[in-house]
Amino acid sequence: ADGYDMTVLKGLDDLDVLLDDDAITVSDVFLGHGHFGVVRKGTLKTADGRMCSVAVKSLRDRPSSRDLDEFLREILLMQKVGKHPNIVSMIGCCLDANRRCMLVVEYCQLGDLQTYLRKVSIKSWYANDFYVGRTNPAELTAAANSKVVESMQDTTGPPPPMVVFNNCYLYHGDENVFLTVDDLLRFASQVANGMLYLENNRVVHRDLAARNVLLSDHRTIKICDFGLSRDVYEQNLYQKSNRGDPLPVKWMALESLKYQLYTTQSDVWSFGVLLWEIMMLGGSPYPTISSSRIYEELRSGYRMPRPTLCCYSLYEVMLACWHANPANRPKFGTIKDTIDGIMENQY
Ligand code: ADE
Repeated sequence: ADGYDMTVLKGLDDLDVLLDDDAITVSDVFLGHGHFGVVRKGTLKTADGRMCSVAVKSLRDRPSSRDLDEFLREILLMQKVGKHPNIVSMIGCCLDANRRCMLVVEYCQLGDLQTYLRKVSIKSWYANDFYVGRTNPAELTAAANSKVVESMQDTTGPPPPMVVFNNCYLYHGDENVFLTVDDLLRFASQVANGMLYLENNRVVHRDLAARNVLLSDHRTIKICDFGLSRDVYEQNLYQKSNRGDPLPVKWMALESLKYQLYTTQSDVWSFGVLLWEIMMLGGSPYPTISSSRIYEELRSGYRMPRPTLCCYSLYEVMLACWHANPANRPKFGTIKDTIDGIMENQY
């Protein structure tokens, strides 16, 4: 235990990130699993006495030396990366009553993007039109890629203004709001914007996926989970993975699967899968392919088909992200500009 405190504190000594012991109160509200422990909701008392919600990551009990190392690495990396509107920012570190190190980051009210998107349903406003066969329900259901099409309870009032296709709307039950395809595109553009910032700071994320992207209030994207991230001292320097952990294979680029090579351009591949997850409202990629067969399928040229909500120009971006040659994939700056262009032109 002594060794633990020493390791962590030695690295943190140089940083101005240690918070006062009594500044943080951790609640029992569980927010998620980090790579090395749990994330709970907490409260931070600011210098001027205000209380604000925070997320507190703590290490699991009896952490391995690698857990410690990676935890410290995440803290140092977050500190180095600094603030950006689309990156979860670090508030600081502190020690709990047992002198265990905790990482305090900004709280994102709407949770992770995957869970958020899975609560979006496709609803048909004109239930009768739908059932008398103007639209073939089987076709529509298939088109919506197995998202259940529900009819709205009240079909007497005026329909909401955001038609997605065939009198269908995207409805978020928890929030009681209608979403538009532009809202989905805005998520994608903001992820690209955050990734562009990471790229400029020479950080390769290595685990970009909808589950690792959070939404703060006003539905602002915040990229998180730097647990697997690496600082590459030279841009696009290839890094070998030496972790024994299960790998997110369905998000991994061909070269990551084959050679454990991770670069900004392999992050671009993962971004393509994340884009697919967004347009599929939180669907699971390659549902019919087992993880062990993914590499062979991709090698022989298989790519996921276009989600119904995804326009052709956006699908082109997705396919470009999955180019076998990393050098031929678009850069995050270009991806962001293309998505912003699609939003402006309403495709
Ligand atoms: N789950 C993991 N990290 C979180 C955060 N910063 N805010 C809200 N939920 C989270």
